[in-house]
Amino acid sequence: MDYEKLVCAAIEAKQRAYAPYSGFRVGAAVAARSGRIYTGMNIENASYGATVCAERTAVFKAVSEGEKLIEAVAVVSDSEDYVFPCGICRQVLNEFAADDLKIICCKSNGDSAVYTLSELLPHAFK
Ligand code: THU
Repeated sequence: MDYEKLVCAAIEAKQRAYAPYSGFRVGAAVAARSGRIYTGMNIENASYGATVCAERTAVFKAVSEGEKLIEAVAVVSDSEDYVFPCGICRQVLNEFAADDLKIICCKSNGDSAVYTLSELLPHAFK
């Protein structure tokens, strides 16, 4: 798995974040079992609860194209700290996670840390 390629795709996707309310731009890229990469970004809404996170945008794009298994996901933001998927996104990832799904969390300086889904979502509901 080429994590660097996945992180670059997430950085590129972040440019298209629609985040006029929070100003917090997030990009994500998922590697699907087919070998294809799908990208996503957060898409906010004036009705805040209608906002969709970058990770879910990417996962839903993949699933809508027929993918059933996600092998890795990279998440980036402009923050100096690592960005982690929110709880809802962890649950959505769990639904389509290949065994041993890797979650690559990044800082804006390019540092990355790799986690398994079970580390970020222990005792998951499935
Ligand atoms: N956000 C994501 O896109 N992914 C996450 O995992 C955390 C939060 C977005 C949602 C919202 O547009 C902004 O970050 C602030 O919460």
